[in-house]
Amino acid sequence: MTYTKNQTKIDLYPEKKKYSKNKETLKSTILILLLFSSICLLFLILKSPFTSPPQTTSFTTSLPRTCHHNFTVYVYDIPKEFNIGLLNNCRHLNIYTNMCPHVTNNGLGQPLHRGGRTSWFATHQFIAEMIFHARVENHPCRTWEPHNADIFYVPFYGGLYASSVFREQNLTKRDELAVRLVDFVSSQRWWRRSNGRDHFLALGRTAWDFMRSNSDTEDFGANKLMQMPRVKNMSVLTVERQPWKGVKHFGIPYPSYFHPYTSSEMVTWQNKMRRVKRPNLFSFVGGKRKGLEKAAIRDELIKQCAESSHCEILKCESGGSRCHDPMTVLGVMARSRFCLQAPGDSFTRRSTFDAILSGCIPVFFSPHTMYTQYMWYLPDDRRSYSVFMDEKNSSRIEHELSRISESEVVLMRETVIDLIPRFTYAHPNATNYDLLDAVDVALEALAKQARSKVVYSL
Ligand SMILES: *[C@@H]1O[C@H](CO)[C@@H](O)[C@H](O)[C@H]1NC(C)=O
Ligand SMILES: *[C@@H]1O[C@H](CO)[C@@H](O)[C@H](O)[C@H]1NC(C)=O
Ligand SMILES: *[C@@H]1O[C@H](CO)[C@@H](O)[C@H](O)[C@H]1NC(C)=O
Ligand SMILES: *[C@@H]1O[C@H](CO)[C@@H](O)[C@H](O)[C@H]1NC(C)=O
Ligand SMILES: *[C@@H]1O[C@H](CO)[C@@H](O)[C@H](O)[C@H]1NC(C)=O
Repeated sequence: MTYTKNQTKIDLYPEKKKYSKNKETLKSTILILLLFSSICLLFLILKSPFTSPPQTTSFTTSLPRTCHHNFTVYVYDIPKEFNIGLLNNCRHLNIYTNMCPHVTNNGLGQPLHRGGRTSWFATHQFIAEMIFHARVENHPCRTWEPHNADIFYVPFYGGLYASSVFREQNLTKRDELAVRLVDFVSSQRWWRRSNGRDHFLALGRTAWDFMRSNSDTEDFGANKLMQMPRVKNMSVLTVERQPWKGVKHFGIPYPSYFHPYTSSEMVTWQNKMRRVKRPNLFSFVGGKRKGLEKAAIRDELIKQCAESSHCEILKCESGGSRCHDPMTVLGVMARSRFCLQAPGDSFTRRSTFDAILSGCIPVFFSPHTMYTQYMWYLPDDRRSYSVFMDEKNSSRIEHELSRISESEVVLMRETVIDLIPRFTYAHPNATNYDLLDAVDVALEALAKQARSKVVYSL
């Protein structure tokens, strides 16, 4: 296995005080020892968590989930052209990638290892809408009676639709399906109960992809779904919200790679991440972005990481496939105490959720990467689970991070690991699963909001 950075540097970190770089006589012996131990370490860290998924003995007595919440959700049966019908065209749903492998297994994508049941999948970053749909369809609080529903879910695969028409020059055509969807929903009887205020969409792309404005000088391919007045009455869940104007816009997590069937699989994973050895002070997984102002910080992070012997870098150059390999990515993060999360094409990154899953404390450079996005999911005190750096202190990342005491690091990591279940999309067919996952948290928050605001007028 080769990394951008010499492997021995990773293992030097915990031993640094003992072996100073000047002791030339010891150097070769140490290098051999370190190489050997790093291979062992790699094996332990990379292989064990992923190839031996935690087995539980409760499979035979699988219990369906029961509704412990105090709400009911109704799922609209909308024409297939608005969701699963789109999948027939999976080769052309995204102008960059063939989405066919990614839309399998209810959007979880391809299993990471063959044979038997697995909870690890190569899940695409922009596919949350499919997993959300599958989770709500199987949700214990789903009702088939719209008249007693608290909230109404409209399972539109708007993100897949948006990405399939990014290059459509004719704007009427680009908006066509979204407009038809809104016409369909707003003509339903239950819409009128509160003018759509108890209705919601869950979309797997960023809000920017649905907020084309007439004043945009540059066309990024967005449609106008979220600008439509009727949609402004609905709640819209996206993996990135518009942080300033998005009143009824709510952030939901990007999906990561772990989709457990049972609570005990989750608990086993959390314990593994508590115990794993983390020789790197920090790490960065990502690439440069040309000409994007908000991503300029990336050049700086890559430079500082490359110069530090306590940082592991996984560069994502165009065509580089290692940073799309889930095990490689999670391996780097699970070996690190802090994971740098710089804005990229937009403020948020899927990588933040990979870091949390790996028990790696995220370091942010913009408040919009996390704090203004996922309010339903986060503790109030941002310092309890993350580090924030502005322009002033981001020029000395290693210095700033190494000032945080070991006991603080342990406390923050514990908070991060406790957050894993909420940021996880459990398997849609999960049984014996009594933790709240990303979808449970969202539904609960929507129901609470609907109960407090809805004026019944039917
Ligand atoms: C829970 O549901 C019951 C029965 O519908 C209702 O009486 C009660 O007020 C609800 N509690 C809350 C906290 O919403
Ligand atoms: C969940 O179960 C249904 C019904 O058996 C099946 O069609 C679907 O493929 C399953 N989902 C996954 C992700 O395995
Ligand atoms: C754009 O598409 C619409 C709907 O298909 C069509 O009516 C219209 O003529 C098209 N406009 C142009 C400029 O091609
Ligand atoms: C949005 O809801 C408000 C209040 O219920 C209503 O007056 C308004 O007409 C609705 N807007 C649309 C476009 O339906
Ligand atoms: C960086 O500076 C900001 C504001 O000046 C401060 O809130 C933050 O705690 C600092 N971060 C570190 C790691 O020192």
